[in-house]
Amino acid sequence: MPEEIILESLPPQPHLQQYYTNDEEKRRFVRGLFDRGASGYDRAEGIMALGTGRWYRRKALERAGLRQDMTVLDVATGTGLVAREAIKIIGDSHKLIGLDPSPGMLAEAKKSLNIQAMLAYAESIPVDDSSVDFVSMGYALRHLSDLIVVFREFRRVLRPGGRVCILEITRPAGKFKQALLKGYIKGVIPVLSRITFCHKDVAVLWEYYWETIQVCVPPDKVMHALRSAGFEDVKRHVELGIFSEYTARKPA
Ligand SMILES: C[S@@+](CC[C@H](N)C(=O)[O-])C[C@H]1O[C@@H](n2cnc3c(N)ncnc32)[C@H](O)[C@@H]1O
Repeated sequence: MPEEIILESLPPQPHLQQYYTNDEEKRRFVRGLFDRGASGYDRAEGIMALGTGRWYRRKALERAGLRQDMTVLDVATGTGLVAREAIKIIGDSHKLIGLDPSPGMLAEAKKSLNIQAMLAYAESIPVDDSSVDFVSMGYALRHLSDLIVVFREFRRVLRPGGRVCILEITRPAGKFKQALLKGYIKGVIPVLSRITFCHKDVAVLWEYYWETIQVCVPPDKVMHALRSAGFEDVKRHVELGIFSEYTARKPA
């Protein structure tokens, strides 16, 4: 088998010109989107996942090897949907750090979670080297500027042998499944959102969500990026053809 080329940089998607033209504009756009959508996020997420989102996140963390008493860095913690499930497994909220660049999302998380909340970007994590057992990141891959930069940060903060778990929606294979997902995100969700009085900015969030799913780098590239950043045992588990769980281990 030919040796794999080590990637030095991998943006998760091209810049979407209708929203931003460079990394700085993207950061401002994404932060504004989540700051404004923060108060309606959990309700909108419940609609999107038809109420299964929390259960699914917990199962994914267990599958990735999260166990009682581990220390966790939850990157892109948002309102804390992954963090909440991680705490149920590790058993102590003081063992989890939730990192996110959106003050609005972190404020929502703090309403119900007694965690250390860190206002920061995944590209530059203010956490010591080799200091956590587990890094999780739910549904934020597309918002990053460079996967290699971020995955190297994950590797740096993890203890040797520590594990990473990245959850993401992936474009399904096949035109029929793609049409189904598009109909659901662009047709069903906006109607359900209106019925349940979600904030109008939440609708923009889903519109943007669909567009980023379309252009995001494919799963094999994400796995290649993890290996290039120095991870081993890189795997992808898929549920329903669209929910991807990327897991990997920092060499011991
Ligand atoms: C769709 S939400 C996911 C929240 C939560 N992880 C979940 O599973 O529901 C995406 C989050 O990524 C955050 N985010 C965006 N860009 C980021 C970056 N460069 N580094 C870390 N987090 C980022 C946003 O502020 C937002 O809270």
